[in-house]
Amino acid sequence: MENSCKNVYITTPIYYVNDVAHIGHAYTTIIADTVARYSRLIGADTFLLTGTDEHGQKIAQSAEARGKTPKEYADEISGKFRKLWDDFDITYDKFIRTTDEEHKIGVQKAFETMYNKGDIYKGDYEGYYCVSCETFFTEKQLVDEQFCPDCGKPTNIVKEESFFFRLSKYEDRLLKWYEENEDCILPRAKKNEIINFVKGGLKDLSISRTSFDWGVKLPESINEPKHVMYVWLDALMNYITALGYGTDEKNMNYWPAKIHLVGKDILRFHSIYWPAFLMSLELPLPEHIAAHGWWTRDGDKMSKSKGNVVNPKEVADAYGLDAFRYFMLREVPFGQDGDFSQKALIDRINSDLGNDLGNLLNRISGMSGKYFDYKVTSKDVERFHKKELDEVNEILANVESYIYKMQLNRYLEDIWKVLTIANKAIGDYEPWTKMKEGKEDEAMALVALITNIMARVALLLDSVMPEKISKIAASLGIKIDTVTYKKLLVNKELLEDTTITKVEQLFPRIEELLLEQAKPTDVSKTETEEKSCKNESTVLEEDNLITIDKFFETTLRIGTIVEAQEVPKSSKLLKLQVDLGEGRNRQILAGIKEYYDASSLVGTQACVVANLKPAKLMGMLSEGMLLAARDENGLSLVRPETSKKSGTKIS
Ligand code: MSP
Repeated sequence: MENSCKNVYITTPIYYVNDVAHIGHAYTTIIADTVARYSRLIGADTFLLTGTDEHGQKIAQSAEARGKTPKEYADEISGKFRKLWDDFDITYDKFIRTTDEEHKIGVQKAFETMYNKGDIYKGDYEGYYCVSCETFFTEKQLVDEQFCPDCGKPTNIVKEESFFFRLSKYEDRLLKWYEENEDCILPRAKKNEIINFVKGGLKDLSISRTSFDWGVKLPESINEPKHVMYVWLDALMNYITALGYGTDEKNMNYWPAKIHLVGKDILRFHSIYWPAFLMSLELPLPEHIAAHGWWTRDGDKMSKSKGNVVNPKEVADAYGLDAFRYFMLREVPFGQDGDFSQKALIDRINSDLGNDLGNLLNRISGMSGKYFDYKVTSKDVERFHKKELDEVNEILANVESYIYKMQLNRYLEDIWKVLTIANKAIGDYEPWTKMKEGKEDEAMALVALITNIMARVALLLDSVMPEKISKIAASLGIKIDTVTYKKLLVNKELLEDTTITKVEQLFPRIEELLLEQAKPTDVSKTETEEKSCKNESTVLEEDNLITIDKFFETTLRIGTIVEAQEVPKSSKLLKLQVDLGEGRNRQILAGIKEYYDASSLVGTQACVVANLKPAKLMGMLSEGMLLAARDENGLSLVRPETSKKSGTKIS
């Protein structure tokens, strides 16, 4: 209970508003939410922050490309992020936007403080800038003299008047901080990379821009109206302005942050610039800056151009939010890259959640019902099962340390060890045999042992799967709160007499993929995902080019839709019978219900991917796929200009 009395402040990165949320954003936010929920449960005064990063050249360009003002555009996308986190029941205490007035005032105050201290000076910047990463580079850092070393996109030459932050002044203090605080950057391997980078020498950082105006103005006292702040200075300050820095400082008692959660691509900003800014402001430094890895899909890098970006809402809607949360946290050791595949998710659901957890609950309710009319008493547990109980308590005594070191996969692994002890005990002690032998007290002790284990597991899993755990808690008649946590997990007490209630199966077995695989039509694409900077539109990503032979591996044919029906309970799917000139119709499930009336499709033609492996969607066979295109005005099927014979090959 190291944190039970202290304040715990946890932050996610603030997300750029040039893209809607994808699995990577969901991952960071789910980890942060889990740690926040856990902290609250153990009694810590907790503050979870998330929000959106809305200034800078990238956002200004994205807005312009859509004919919107940056603010209109930011309002729209920021609203989508917030809605998603609300749908995901993320327990944020504040959702900050960098366009909030309080934030701007706070950032200006920070700038002024650093300026008055002599840490900021005016000069001229000459170098390269990657709009996509919002990062300055020197010529030496570029790849092939032109490309961004981080994202590979072309950089722009920048030559403009700029204010600079004396980053070089903080080099030694940063190195000292890394050295004295073992876990200040997690995981350790990443920390070493940062240390080596800093040892290589730090240059002063350009922190204002004059070539565009979508940003926070410099403080009036400095009287430089043509400068706006560099977006990373503006963005990093959100961690203190959200607590009221520079305005109403009432929440500054949460500072310093316990954990800043970030992706590995933005660790440098957080572990070099941010602590240096804080040193300049004479504020305490965060306890941990934790960098997670990147997610791929089915082994492939996710990219908008490939159309294989995982939409977290779709996955959660199809497989359940709690299962998705569990999968993300369990599947990948923190800091490593992870791969999302529906198969891996289904395996976790069927095996870990269905077999190990869900079935154990069913067995508790089955046995307690059959033998003891659902009444369970713990009075003989220590007498017959001291060994198992001690083992369980010992494993669980260590799990808290995993949470704050971000080793959530190990946290879950240990909880699963405990579930294994419970499941094994049933096989070892066979309560049904004990009942036959008239040893009711032994059978009761076993049922009570697993009930007590399940109660501990429920408390620990509540932060990961709050919805399902509320059902387990209701079934065991326990409360998930700090008092119960202290009683069972800190004081290691046993439950009072409990009455078990039957519950429905928590994780029904899943036999087939519930979502369509990545689609060439890119129907999953979002309306905001066109090029985020103009340069990009002219660049073909080398790894996306294919040979003509590869293209011809896909057989495209004209299909005539002869029947169309809505799929009940699906907001997206229509069930179509399509004639491809094969002497029989093919059944194709298409995610176009939001855009087409079933009846309007009958008799029309569409382009069909004809050699796609059949797949089952919502229990129904789909033997192909229709091509469609989607932009901000909606979705259209791709059709021949004039009617063609069913089955005509497209090339
Ligand atoms: N706005 C900055 C952060 C400022 S924080 C003061 C930013 N925004 S972002 O929207 O581009 O990225 C937000 C987070 O999403 C980053 O932590 C990034 O690592 C993460 N991810 C983006 N794509 C990802 C994956 N494919 N997988 C996992 N996380 C990834 O950077």
